[in-house]
Amino acid sequence: MERKIKIAVVGIGLMGSQHLIAIKNSKKADLHSVVDINERSRAHAKKFKVPFYKNSSALIKNNKPDAVIVATPNQFHEKHTISFLNAKIPVLLEKPISSNIQKAKKIIASSRKNKTHLLIGYHRRHNAISTKVKNKISKGKLGKIVSVNVMCWLYKNKEWFKEKWRVKKGGGPLGINLVHDIDLICYLLGPIKYVQASSSNRIRKYRVEDTAVVNFVFKSGALGTLSVSDTIVSPWSYELTAGENPAYSITNQSAYYIGGTKSSIQFPNYKEWYNKKERSWWKPILHKDESTRESRYTLTNQINHLCDVVNKKAKPKITGEDGLVSLKIFAAIIKSAKTGKKVKIK
Ligand SMILES: NC(=O)c1ccc[n+]([C@@H]2O[C@H](COP(=O)([O-])OP(=O)(O)OC[C@H]3O[C@@H](n4cnc5c(N)ncnc54)[C@H](O)[C@@H]3O)[C@@H](O)[C@H]2O)c1
Repeated sequence: MERKIKIAVVGIGLMGSQHLIAIKNSKKADLHSVVDINERSRAHAKKFKVPFYKNSSALIKNNKPDAVIVATPNQFHEKHTISFLNAKIPVLLEKPISSNIQKAKKIIASSRKNKTHLLIGYHRRHNAISTKVKNKISKGKLGKIVSVNVMCWLYKNKEWFKEKWRVKKGGGPLGINLVHDIDLICYLLGPIKYVQASSSNRIRKYRVEDTAVVNFVFKSGALGTLSVSDTIVSPWSYELTAGENPAYSITNQSAYYIGGTKSSIQFPNYKEWYNKKERSWWKPILHKDESTRESRYTLTNQINHLCDVVNKKAKPKITGEDGLVSLKIFAAIIKSAKTGKKVKIK
């Protein structure tokens, strides 16, 4: 039996508290401690019977864990992550890697300099459904990928907007929701070459967008579209269809549609569509349903993967470089939405 990895969680807010549960559900990990500047998080330490620290230096100085999860607000990612990497403690850093590209590069450089692993928390890649779709595409089951359509339509209630940062730059659906989708489509379909985007604040009238559409050109030549909005009452978003987070009421819809020359796939409510013999719009379209609804385990899968990396049994599935790629695409989308022009990803 391999040794259990002791993990500290830094920042016990919306996401950090989910990680506490995921660690509890993992057979490979133990919770080491919790760190938060806010005294109210001491209650979590009490509940899980672990030490509480008010800052990361106190943790590093007094009681080094085997790994940490950094789930603090984006603007603190650089400071916290680099302090742990300098202490040679592997980090699972919440998405996005940072609030800007320069800081993201510093984080990656620190991981390299310290020869210490950095993993980015794009947890959807740890969902069995994503692995299944990835395998289908890699094995050529869909033929040549022609196009992908992604929907991220949801309705955020009044309470969500009480936090002032959520109505300012970076707090809209492009900054909050879209990055997960960018990471997932790059994982499934490969690198993106160009983006072109339009955004609007027509409905909510905040300074930040409530709705946006994005066109993608992939290096493979495939084309894609993504439509995101936080002011549409609808079931068509990954959150409401994957069932990863019990906070959302799950539906049996899908949000991703990937089309190839042999067949097409929709998921998270997985269906594969195809013609039996001759490929033709005049022939019946059949579908295989091989639903993989293990979504509730996604965050625990991510913890297990972190433990495997620390135990030298796996390499990081989502690296700092992957985090930088999605951040660059995000920045290009923001630029294109401002100028209306197509932007090349460098
Ligand atoms: N993977 C996902 O699906 C997902 C979902 C939500 C948020 N996130 C990411 O998780 C991170 C946190 O977001 P959130 O929504 O949980 O935020 P939050 O505001 O709910 O929680 C942040 C926590 O960090 C603590 N904190 C702030 N400054 C700190 C410091 N200097 N030292 C220690 N603790 C500090 C706060 O007290 C708070 O408890 C962000 O990077 C966000 O993008 C990821």
